[in-house]
Amino acid sequence: MSAELSQKGQVLRAVNLSAGYDGRAIVSGITVEASPGKVVSIVGPNGSGKSTLLKSLVGVVPVLAGSVSVGESDITNVAPERIATLGVGYVPQVDDVFPPLTVKENLEIGGYLLERHLVGERITAVLDFFPRLKTMLSRKAGKLSGGERKMLAMGRVLMLTPSVMVLDEPTANLAPQVATQLLEEFIRGFADHGTTVLLVEQRAKAALRISDWTCVLGGGRVVLEGVPADLERDPVFVESFLGGGARH
Ligand SMILES: Nc1ncnc2c1ncn2[C@@H]1O[C@H](COP(=O)(O)OP(=O)(O)O)[C@@H](O)[C@H]1O
Ligand SMILES: [Mg+2]
Repeated sequence: MSAELSQKGQVLRAVNLSAGYDGRAIVSGITVEASPGKVVSIVGPNGSGKSTLLKSLVGVVPVLAGSVSVGESDITNVAPERIATLGVGYVPQVDDVFPPLTVKENLEIGGYLLERHLVGERITAVLDFFPRLKTMLSRKAGKLSGGERKMLAMGRVLMLTPSVMVLDEPTANLAPQVATQLLEEFIRGFADHGTTVLLVEQRAKAALRISDWTCVLGGGRVVLEGVPADLERDPVFVESFLGGGARH
């Protein structure tokens, strides 16, 4: 590989965090820590505040109480561009690429904060990690398959050589085999490169398989957390997320 995929990971930490819209908290009292080389996942039902939590960590939704830090830097309510330059990459659940632009243009935009001469080198590093995109550079992002599009979305974020990857439901609407590849090869792969990974995932069972620690969100609070092996033995967790007939 001609360049490193990511920087050495930094700890991403939220302490007693509340966040929401119009001054009203959607998530409260959240303490979570993600560290280099590890995947921390957040699971929970729709509407439990998972996206709001991630957005507040990356400066998109206001933090109402508590704090967020990456490494030694306090990033509480810091502007999203500044948080990106401090090494935190964020792949949103929707609006993750620019559909009318080509794959190459999307990657270039991902590198907009870089000095011009570094962009080509970063594109090479990203394509080494996602070789499937190599033959698609001139294809419009809107014409990609769901899995390819999500690779591009992650690739855009990798343009800035992040030390932390924050991913919001990267496997939503993907076929099961594609979802498994994204999670087990690429997202676990980020952590295995030393990156810090914080992942929101609807597929609880698949999330547990690649996670070092998992938090369960319910009604905007962490209601349960632990290592996957313990959660898999927790009757409430099994009933809610892994139980009979559940799609996950
Ligand atoms: N832009 C917004 N303004 C006001 N409320 C919102 C906004 N986005 C989400 N919410 C509310 O926040 C709650 C949690 O939503 P969200 O964080 O998207 O949950 P999840 O990602 O777990 O499905 C929901 O009740 C939703 O209606
Ligand atoms: Mg969500």
